[in-house]
This record gives sequence, structure tokens and C-alpha cells, in this order.
Amino acid sequence: MTRILVLGSVNLDYSASVSRLPVPGETITGATLERIPGGKGANQALAAQRLGASVQLIAAVGNDANADDALCLLRAAGVDLSRCVVKVEVPTGVALICVAASGENHIVVAPGANAMLSPADFELPDADAMICQLEVPIATILSVVDEFAGFFCVNLAPAREIDDAVLKRADLLVVNETEAAWYGARLDLCSGFIATTLGANGAQLTQRGIELARVRAPAVEVVDSTGAGDAFTAALTIALVEGMAPAAALTSACAAGALATTKRGAQPSLPTRAQLEAFT
Ligand code: RIB
Repeated sequence: MTRILVLGSVNLDYSASVSRLPVPGETITGATLERIPGGKGANQALAAQRLGASVQLIAAVGNDANADDALCLLRAAGVDLSRCVVKVEVPTGVALICVAASGENHIVVAPGANAMLSPADFELPDADAMICQLEVPIATILSVVDEFAGFFCVNLAPAREIDDAVLKRADLLVVNETEAAWYGARLDLCSGFIATTLGANGAQLTQRGIELARVRAPAVEVVDSTGAGDAFTAALTIALVEGMAPAAALTSACAAGALATTKRGAQPSLPTRAQLEAFT
């Protein structure tokens, strides 16, 4: 079984479904609110576990009631949470999300305990692959760059200033189009794979400036795109680590991302391996 280590965030998502996204200064009423487990780290950990990997999550939550709600689906799925620490006097991370009828969203994150996750909080276990995103301190990600020996994936989301060492170390970088534009030529520091998600247009996989694969997104009825990038990142990492060829791996990741848009919320929609295989 593929062993995946995820270093990342845990949030409780307050997700409001609205007819359309508000413009600045506008109030829209009539929304339906749900509290749903989220956070890019937690989502990617759960996605990997549902896809058949054995997953450990390194993360921080607050000493509050939201922590249990944020971790409940990870616990139910059997993700190893023994390296999740509790920070006193800070709340569990919260994301405020607006989801339009089109499935598009706006997300604002109040990181809370995620911003307190420090290298002193954990020892690094062995694993086949590690996945990081940028919702925890960059210094904490930097601390594992030299120590972790396996396949190293960094989802550069949300786009933030990051040390060159992280870009150079990555075996796989995952960006969306906005993030790709934000990092620009700095992505060339990576000699591993670079996966760029293109929304409804699918995704592209390159290495050293050469396109290895480009895949169209499968047609699905989009309900909520929250967490689609997380499903994509986990699925692509697992496929590449398990030795799948680049084009097949990208196809599998696009299918996982598409399936993740078909239900409300980030975590409830993450597909299992059986659902993914039935779909592809
Ligand atoms: O990638 C989706 C996630 O981003 C949401 O679950 C939210 O918590 C934010 O971190």
C-alpha cells in the first residue's frame, strides 16, 4: 500500500450556497449555510486515503469544538492523526466560502492554529510520498525539504512567497492558472513534473518546459468546485508514485478533480478508488 504523508492545513469550512458570487460592496441574501470539514491539507489527506493510500497527516488544530468537526471525516476514513497537534489559545482554522450556482467559489481563510504549526511539533516518519500546500508556515515546509527522502509534491496554493529550495526539491508542483502566472518563470527552478490545472479545460503536465501530457476535463454536472484541486493533487501524486505513465496519471487526476465537483463541500465529494476507476 502506498504510504503518503501530508503536511498541511485543517479548516472547518463555512460554506454558503448562493445564486451568484457577490461583487465588492454587494450583499446577497437567500444563501444556504453548511459547516463542512476542509483545509487543503486535510482534503488532500482524505483524498489520498479514499484512493487507497495509507495516510498520515501532520497538522495543527485549536482547542475548540470546531477541531472535532473539522477532523471527523478524516477519523472516519482511518487517516492517521497521531501527528496532529492541538494549539491552545488559538482557534481551529476556518474558511468562509461562497459557492455560486455555477459551482465557482470565493474563499477567505482565517488560518488560526494552522499558522502555528512549527517544525518542533513533529518528527518526520518514513513514507513513499509527501504532499504539502501553502496554508501552513513556509518555514515549516522548508524544514522538511532536505529531511524527506521520498517523492515530494508541493501544491503551490494559495500562491505565496516561497524559498527557491522548495521549488528545486519538488518532484511534482501543482498549480492552477492563477498560481502559474503568479510564480511565472520561477517554476522553471523545478526539474520535476509541473501539473497545471486549467479548470473546465482539464490539465497539462510538463517537465523542464516540455509538455508530457494534456488532458481535457471529463464532462460532469458541476455543483461545487471546492476541493477539486485537492482531489487532483492527491490522485496525481498517487498515480505517479505507483508508476503510472504521465498521460494516464494526468487522466486519472483530472477524473478525480471532476468527480470532486459533483457534490457540495470539499470532503464529502472526494472520490474513492472504486468510484474513480468506474468513472475512467
Ligand atoms: O482547496 C479547498 C480548501 O481551501 C477549502 O476546503 C478551504 O478550507 C480552503 O483551505
